[in-house]
Amino acid sequence: MSQVPAPASTAAQVAVFETLGTARAMRYLRADPVPAGHVEAIVWAATRASSADNTQPWRFLAVTDAGQRQRIAAAIAPFRQVICAMPEPSGPTAARTRRGAEHLIDSLGSVPLLLFICGLNDYPEGDPQERYLWSAVFAAAQNAVVAARALGLGAVFSMLHVAAPAEIRSILGVPAGVKIGVMLAIGWPQRPFGPVARKPVGEVLRYDHW
Ligand SMILES: Cc1cc2nc3c(=O)[nH]c(=O)nc-3n(C[C@H](O)[C@H](O)[C@H](O)COP(=O)(O)O)c2cc1C
Repeated sequence: MSQVPAPASTAAQVAVFETLGTARAMRYLRADPVPAGHVEAIVWAATRASSADNTQPWRFLAVTDAGQRQRIAAAIAPFRQVICAMPEPSGPTAARTRRGAEHLIDSLGSVPLLLFICGLNDYPEGDPQERYLWSAVFAAAQNAVVAARALGLGAVFSMLHVAAPAEIRSILGVPAGVKIGVMLAIGWPQRPFGPVARKPVGEVLRYDHW
């Protein structure tokens, strides 16, 4: 268990911090289905996120149908060769991440829930700027990852859809004008969560002046 910050003293506070501290990228997922109630709870949590002017530009596409998941996996599969052609990472952590990323591609068709978090580029009105759409989409995505963890589900961010953007849009029927931000792969974990490895707060926090 990662260290929970000292001010978290009530059981509820500790639970929240423990969930945040163990919501790690889970690329090893069982094929068992994710109940619809869990999907909706995750999207509920995602939609509690903040967005500019509360515009809530996010839209969610939960892919659970086996045929659709297979089609998406097949569209992304060639990207495995691109990863294989990259130089082998030097450190053990990066090498482990690489193995996990490869496993995710290989097993994608059996991941029970692929949650695409999309967004509308419509803010500010008359002069829309994508930064507002992306900030909302990724805030929602992080809430979704943490909510999945709270429910005992594993989740991992992925940008794998970028490997075959036109094909993925066509499979999913995403209308022109709707951007696909992230594909979360979600399912019951095959491995323990364990703490996330992050830089200490003291290394990244400054007060009052850089
Ligand atoms: C925007 C974004 C894109 C990501 N894309 C991928 C991906 O395509 N494939 C993958 O296996 N992990 C992906 N990840 C997961 C990160 O590699 C992971 O969160 C990071 O290595 C930290 O791992 P940890 O949370 O287990 O500590 C992505 C994460 C983010 C935030």
